[in-house]
Amino acid sequence: MSLNISTPHDRQDTIRDLAIDAERARSAPLSDAQQLKTIAHIKQLLESQNAVLVAHYYVDAILQDLAEETGGFVGDSLEMARFGLNSDADTVIVAGVRFMGETAKILSPEKRVLMIETRAECSLDLACPADDFNQFCDQHPDRTVVVYANTSAEVKARADWVATSSIALDLVKHLSDKGEKILWAPDKFLGAYVQKETGADMVLWQGSCIVHEDFKATALQALKQHKPDAKVLVHPESPGPVIALADVVGSTTQIINAARDMDADTFIVATERGIFHKMQQVAPGKTFIAAPNAGEGAMCESCAECPWMKMNDLPRLEHTLETGSNEITIDETVMQQAARSITRMVEFNARDKAP
Ligand code: 13P
Ligand code: SF4
Repeated sequence: MSLNISTPHDRQDTIRDLAIDAERARSAPLSDAQQLKTIAHIKQLLESQNAVLVAHYYVDAILQDLAEETGGFVGDSLEMARFGLNSDADTVIVAGVRFMGETAKILSPEKRVLMIETRAECSLDLACPADDFNQFCDQHPDRTVVVYANTSAEVKARADWVATSSIALDLVKHLSDKGEKILWAPDKFLGAYVQKETGADMVLWQGSCIVHEDFKATALQALKQHKPDAKVLVHPESPGPVIALADVVGSTTQIINAARDMDADTFIVATERGIFHKMQQVAPGKTFIAAPNAGEGAMCESCAECPWMKMNDLPRLEHTLETGSNEITIDETVMQQAARSITRMVEFNARDKAP
């Protein structure tokens, strides 16, 4: 069974307005000379502050490279959180969006966690305010509450479990096999995909990612016919008809690994376009084509670019390090409650991966 609740229209409008604001707030590009100077200064500051840069695959390639060159890390949202846990740095700088910074802080409360840009939101997080979510949970007291990582610390504090796209299927299957009924939030597409694959009894919050919801199945089908040898890689925040055309559905790391490991030369990729940088690094010589996302009804202000991920840039990183600004702080009680549901996810994942 799958029930839905609606996200109010005015909230959708606010989210789209915030996305447009983020798009407009991008910094002006640096000249090559400015870029070199800024990178050298950032490296110096990272070292002197015993700080590490942890980046998501969707941020600008230059930040991904800088993270790796300076002993930091690039990964999917679960791996980013785990990296902070195991690192002995005093400060973690998150190149990503706010929920990633909050998760890093919750798992490593003794560390200073700084965001490059505090206005870096996520439409899924914005679509699920804690007050409304608490009411929704109160209406379904018999259900196990599983929330996607792309949520605020307050929403995670209410949850029994947190899940990222890399483990959502396994986790919900595990809970459903034990006879548990699930309340899932906030991504309606990922929720519907998990429901379809596992047959679990789920009620779904109706949030969506403004980037992935714009991928178009009809145009993708046409592209597949034009490129019959290409394999299709899809992030599960995409609409169901797009997922149905996929050869592989998975988290950012899972689809990067598929691009490297699959016996194909050409891939059509339905996720944020920042991922192409890592795909080209791990599978040089292969061809990657962006899945179609324009067309009638598409928002496509940024065409497969997350406007919030793209707020992360070199000048803002330099400023954060110089001033120590943008520190993540979370209410102590919220932090302790959210730590419970996040830690369960990390432990479930470790157990699942155990030989
Ligand atoms: P991953 O967990 O696959 O990295 O996804 C995070 C995200 O925000 C996708 O839009
Ligand atoms: Fe959120 Fe979508 Fe951006 Fe990922 S790509 S951070 S889900 S808005």
